[in-house]
Amino acid sequence: MKDYILLFLILLFSSNLFAENEITIESPSGNLTVNIKTENNRLVYCSSYKNEHIINYSNLGFVLKNNDSLCFFRILKSDKVSFDETWKPVWGQYSSIRNNYNQLTLHLQDTRKNRFLDVSFRVYDDGFAFQYNFPEHNPEVIIISEESNYSFSENNKCWWIWADYNTLEKLYNNTSLKEASHVATPFTMKTAKGTYICIHEAALDDYSSMTLKQDLKDSLSFKVNLVPWADGSAVKTSAPFKTPWRVVFISSSAGGLAESSLLQNLNEPSVISDCSWIKPIKYIGIWWEMHLGISAWAMNSGRHGATTENAKRYIDFAASNGIEGLVVEGWNTGWENWGAKDAFDFVTSYPDFNIREVVEYARSKGVEIIGHHETGGDIVAYEKNLENAFSFYNSIGIKYVKTGYAGPVNPPTENHHGQYMIRHYNKVMRTAANYKIMLDVHEPVIPSGLSRTYPNLMTFEGVRGMEWNAWSEGNPPSHTCTLPFTRGLAGPMDYTPGIFDISEQKFADKRVKWNGPDTGKTSAHSTLCNQIALMVVLYSPLQMAADLIENYENHPAFKFVSQIPTTWDETIVLDAKIGEHIVIARRKGNKWFIAGITNENSRVLSIDFNFLEKNRTYTLNKCFDSDNAHYENKPAEFVISRETVNSTSNIKIRMAEGGGFIMILE
Ligand code: NOJ
Ligand code: CA
Repeated sequence: MKDYILLFLILLFSSNLFAENEITIESPSGNLTVNIKTENNRLVYCSSYKNEHIINYSNLGFVLKNNDSLCFFRILKSDKVSFDETWKPVWGQYSSIRNNYNQLTLHLQDTRKNRFLDVSFRVYDDGFAFQYNFPEHNPEVIIISEESNYSFSENNKCWWIWADYNTLEKLYNNTSLKEASHVATPFTMKTAKGTYICIHEAALDDYSSMTLKQDLKDSLSFKVNLVPWADGSAVKTSAPFKTPWRVVFISSSAGGLAESSLLQNLNEPSVISDCSWIKPIKYIGIWWEMHLGISAWAMNSGRHGATTENAKRYIDFAASNGIEGLVVEGWNTGWENWGAKDAFDFVTSYPDFNIREVVEYARSKGVEIIGHHETGGDIVAYEKNLENAFSFYNSIGIKYVKTGYAGPVNPPTENHHGQYMIRHYNKVMRTAANYKIMLDVHEPVIPSGLSRTYPNLMTFEGVRGMEWNAWSEGNPPSHTCTLPFTRGLAGPMDYTPGIFDISEQKFADKRVKWNGPDTGKTSAHSTLCNQIALMVVLYSPLQMAADLIENYENHPAFKFVSQIPTTWDETIVLDAKIGEHIVIARRKGNKWFIAGITNENSRVLSIDFNFLEKNRTYTLNKCFDSDNAHYENKPAEFVISRETVNSTSNIKIRMAEGGGFIMILE
């Protein structure tokens, strides 16, 4: 009898009791399943979507400092909860978002040193995510490597950019998984059966950002590779703490990926209780002229763009053309010392730019000035001046700030996407919130949905954007047809679309070459209609119409730009193929905006209006490529026309090579 009791107790506390039993957690509709178990004391998970096995058993755990690790576990306990709420974002692709998931939390004991770790899995109908929680007090936790792994079940087709610890401004590769050895996230793929998957991360705070590295022995298996500190460690922190969520978007269509709100749902609700000061806007800028080399940032260039007079001209245009904001770059001293330490103090204007006069003039016309902090990567200098810089803008009535990190990071040993920089970016986000300032972050770390928690974190570059079309061979039309399904899944994108002078020849005589990659053959590589469509396709709550106002003045197509909203009630992807085309419909109030873009190939698509309210007639105004339009030869050829449609209508629309269209229905 005594022996029996002993045996029973051993069984009860031995890891094998749980290990033999796989724990399953399903999404609310049951279409997505995650299974978790221990196998030789390793915790592993796998996943299936609509009965298709998409991820094979994959490891979880950590390698810690001093040859320590947290990889072998027994499951002590598991809890399951279901969650269902609908919340209202301050801005975004939807006016309300449903957050509905089943969650499993495993309480684990480390079999080697009896430490504890929790892992939570949240399973949604459009993806799943897992997060580690270090629950015990520990003044120092140094992670050398996070062992989270994704072992894909087949050699999926995928879209990716090379992992680079310092920049995200790259063109996409489209290969099989086997050919993708070290990638940045979002990492998007498609299975042979047509299921779309994208790996990314949510709620990245005081941790290092992740890349994914292919396993040398198994080319379908990718392990989290955290961007390291100078000393080689990945994360330096103290416990208790939670890691970012490791996110897997899953959908049966490419459009389903772009429609997902998974990333926002995995972030915490807003910590800013009164968000009434946070307002999405459309803006123009004293900006493209510098990138084209027509004017310059530094005053000693003799071609200074940011003068009081030029700013007033831009403000006048904005006020009479439905544009709510103006960014002014090169307003402050320091550009002549670009690259030197402490080049900028972020508060001193050049003598030919009277910042108070400009802000007052803008205020009198109902236009917002977007300030600019270019750090050149000098984090040490920026942090020294941060409070002063934001307090200055706040005191003169500037509520929007574009930041920039173009240049190697100072301290020079740190990586742009490592934990040092994540701490910095999030410090700027919190400081800006304290001063009621909204941010547009250029050269950011990849966004992870923190804008839900800090809605003043409006938009980000982190993409090879329009600027490349001003001083390099530029971006091919397929690039913007790839972005909604890759970079776009990380959050808003300040791509800065809206170039009307596509060939960039109008002021050719005034252009001075200033950037190395400029071979004199620059172009926006798209049709004019494509450029307008991008303002609807690529979501950003601060959306730029990037061209010179000279190219917009009295232009018949600009009235489409003027009307485009920067926050939406509803978003539907009507048709899409990654890298080839996308047609998206977005609703604001009673108006629908439908926009499409295509890659280097022209195509005819049919649009079914069955998403419209029944028994209602809509006036449809459209701007589309003319028959002879072509992104290289005849980019600015377009037609504007009007018709009526209702929910039973179906119309065909042609997009030229590199083309696009916009329709406004009301
Ligand atoms: C790079 C940014 O992406 C661009 O928008 C800005 O004009 C330059 N840096 C200068 O700050
Ligand atoms: Ca940039």
